[in-house]
Amino acid sequence: MRQILTITLTLLAIFLFSPLMLLIAVCIYLEDRGSVFFLQERIGLREIPFKVYKFRTMRDGKVTGVGNILRKTGLDELAQLFNILLGDMNIVGPRPLTKYDIERLGWNQYKYMKRFSVKPGLTGLAQIYGGKGARVSKCFEFSYLKLQSLEMDLRIILVTFVINAFGKERIRRALWESLKLRKRNPNWNKWFKHFKRNSLAPIRENMESISNLSDEKLTALHRSLAIFQLGEAGEGRIAKQIDSVHIFGVNKAYRECIKLFVKEEGKHGRILALMVRSLGGKLLEHNWTESLFSFGRRLLGIRLKLLVLLAAEAVSVVFYKIFIRELPLSGMRAALIEITRDEEFHLRFHQEFFKIRIETNLHKIIFKLLWRSVTLLAFIVVVLDHHKSLMVFGISFSRTYQDYFKIVRSVEEEICNSRKDRIPEFVNTVLHLR
Ligand SMILES: [Fe+2]
Ligand SMILES: [Fe+2]
Repeated sequence: MRQILTITLTLLAIFLFSPLMLLIAVCIYLEDRGSVFFLQERIGLREIPFKVYKFRTMRDGKVTGVGNILRKTGLDELAQLFNILLGDMNIVGPRPLTKYDIERLGWNQYKYMKRFSVKPGLTGLAQIYGGKGARVSKCFEFSYLKLQSLEMDLRIILVTFVINAFGKERIRRALWESLKLRKRNPNWNKWFKHFKRNSLAPIRENMESISNLSDEKLTALHRSLAIFQLGEAGEGRIAKQIDSVHIFGVNKAYRECIKLFVKEEGKHGRILALMVRSLGGKLLEHNWTESLFSFGRRLLGIRLKLLVLLAAEAVSVVFYKIFIRELPLSGMRAALIEITRDEEFHLRFHQEFFKIRIETNLHKIIFKLLWRSVTLLAFIVVVLDHHKSLMVFGISFSRTYQDYFKIVRSVEEEICNSRKDRIPEFVNTVLHLR
């Protein structure tokens, strides 16, 4: 399929550019009566050398007049269309390097093998951004290998056209600026330190039971806490999944953060288990709300999964705060306060993930729609599950809803209104490096 598309597009390009190529050929010939093409050895698929076609730009080691123009405009590369027809190259791919380049860059090592698992390309991510040193090119080429898709290829082809039509340098500069903007990742290292610090804090072990609460309230309390305990202990999956995800903003630091985050939730689970036991309650094995939340997380892609997680954080903050208000001063109350503070940080942590994704108004609308429906659903489910506790403690439904509404809206505000500086529209629509 890809091969057919490549050949068709190439033939189309050759047809389109044939007058131009003919003109170039005539100019080269007229200038010094030399050969039109210049063949150079490059390393291709599976490190097999092939001869790349170029329009000749030099004579006796000097750049010719026509050659100068060809080099500036990049038109000398146009002859590589024939290499695509010959099957040596693709339209989009890593740069076709010489043996000398590969040795100089040290890419002849085994760990760079993957780079030669695809044909080199006439254009590609590294070619578009152009000459920014070995490390940057490597980053582009390997991201391309990871992100490879038809859509990506078409975007790259489109950008290549735009670059050649509107001037290499100008567009390249715009691309770089936009990339720098996008590169403004959240400071995951800061979050890593935060989680690391938290993980070192010891668990409050002795959870003396609360004496001055009625039996009814105690029963309601330990049941509610047991429900939360189950939810806290069940987030493990996401850490595994985040390892195989390649989207913008998900880097090594973020993955480490998620792992620590999951551990922290596990710690909450253990603290809550201590509370439940010291209140004389039993831990739950299953619970319908927990099943529903984890079903939601399993079903959806990583973004929606994190959205469900964010909603769960918001619900838990609201409900923990309710119980904090109702509990008398005690070790248990203090522990619950600590957990709630962690949860508020979790809210902010997950907000960062969404902040960098919401750019256009359409993004905002979609996000708001999803966020409001997911949080409403989460709220209804959790209220249904805890309605007995709410009744026993005499907490009104409307008050709970108001608290919840406040958090939901503040998260939404935070996420949607955080980025005033928008990425130049053109690059945003053309080249999504997600
Ligand atoms: Fe938690
Ligand atoms: Fe949390």
